[in-house]
Amino acid sequence: MKDLKGLFEHQLKDLHSAESQLVNALPKMAKKASNSQLKDAFENHLKETKDHKQRLEEICNELDIKPTGEKCKAMEGLIKEAEGFMDEADNDDVMDAGLIAEAQRVEHYEISGYGTAVRYAKELGHSDIASKLQKTLDEEYNADNKLDILAENRLNENAK
Ligand SMILES: [Fe+2]
Repeated sequence: MKDLKGLFEHQLKDLHSAESQLVNALPKMAKKASNSQLKDAFENHLKETKDHKQRLEEICNELDIKPTGEKCKAMEGLIKEAEGFMDEADNDDVMDAGLIAEAQRVEHYEISGYGTAVRYAKELGHSDIASKLQKTLDEEYNADNKLDILAENRLNENAK
C-alpha cells in the first residue's frame, strides 16, 4: 500500500471479507433469537448483508480489482465472541439481550469501516462508488437503530 488508492482497495477487501463472514454468522444468530422481532431483524439484515457483499463486488469490478484475498480478523474476532456467548447463555431473555449486544458491536465496526470507505471514495473522485457505499452505510445505521429500539423496548427489561 503506497497511496490512498491502495489503502482504499485494502479497505474494500477488508469489508468484503467482513460481510462474507457475517453472511455465515447471521443465520446462527437468527436461530438462537427467541423474540420474533429480533429474529426478523437478523433475517432482514442477512438479506441486506448479501446486498452489501454484492455491492462491494460490483465496486471492485468497476475498479478492476479482486474483492477477495484479505481476511478481516476483526470481524472474525467479533463473530468468535458472539459464538462463545451463544454457547454460554442458558436463558432465552439473556440470550436475546446478549445477541443484541454482540450484533451492535458488529454494526458499529461496519459503520466505522464504511464511513472511512465513503470518505476515501470521495477523496479519490469516485462519486458513484461513494454513493453505493453510502447506501450500505445508511443500512448499517438503520440496522443498529432497530437493535437499539428492541433493546430499549423490552429485551433488556426481560433479561433482568
Ligand atoms: Fe453490511
